[in-house]
Amino acid sequence: MAEPLIDLRVLGDGDELARAAAEEFTRRAEEAIHARGRFSAALSGGSTPRRLFALLADPAEPFRDRIEWRAVHLFWGDERHVPPDHPESNFRMVRETLLDRAEIPAANVHRVHGEEPDAARAAALYEDELRSFFGATPRFDLVLLGLGADAHTASLFPQTAVIRERERWVAAPWIEKLGTFRITLTPAVFDRAAAVIFLVQGEEKAGALRAVLSAKRDPDCIPAQAVHPQDGEILWLVDRAAARELDTKAGR
Ligand code: 6PG
Repeated sequence: MAEPLIDLRVLGDGDELARAAAEEFTRRAEEAIHARGRFSAALSGGSTPRRLFALLADPAEPFRDRIEWRAVHLFWGDERHVPPDHPESNFRMVRETLLDRAEIPAANVHRVHGEEPDAARAAALYEDELRSFFGATPRFDLVLLGLGADAHTASLFPQTAVIRERERWVAAPWIEKLGTFRITLTPAVFDRAAAVIFLVQGEEKAGALRAVLSAKRDPDCIPAQAVHPQDGEILWLVDRAAARELDTKAGR
């Protein structure tokens, strides 16, 4: 298995982190649109990326006007099993911070239908959406991911079978500790990405980050280790608090 190129950058705080991520998103969008006429990105949920999305949409910042939004296609790395207007919806978070303020054509916004009563059906519908967009190979230009304190990423949680999923592109695992289903892209998609950027903020993530980057490979216990782009790169953008247990001199 080819080793992806891995880079780690430690930023001072949450604002520096969001700004560095906005520059990476914008640069990659410019390059992809210039090279192939479109940019495809899978967005992470949770709280950490909110500031990034707000920066991308802010007319006073040097990002929004550099991006040809009509050539941008947005997907979600995972979604909660809730309707799009629910407070926990990852779609809602992105709508409020980015979509309502950047001119992305509605047809370019590929959300998970978390309102679908049957989570497995929501996953199957989303896989159809990805297959009609990508054809045979789901190669995102950029996948944004977060990291939980338990080293989960997207909705790949410890000791769940989806960590080893290499056929289906989307799955609907039951997450026992949350008492709910989640709809998530699988390693079958993450492994084909051109670039994966992990955004990690806060000291509560320090242990998980150290485990992902320096512990022995054990994706069942450390799910973020299951993200392994074959012909792509991984960039870790982390703040100083999250990096505090890392031997950053050694890096990885
Ligand atoms: C989700 C995410 C999840 C998230 C991590 C980190 O739907 O919750 O996709 O994987 O990235 O839980 O979440 P925070 O950024 O809120 O710490």
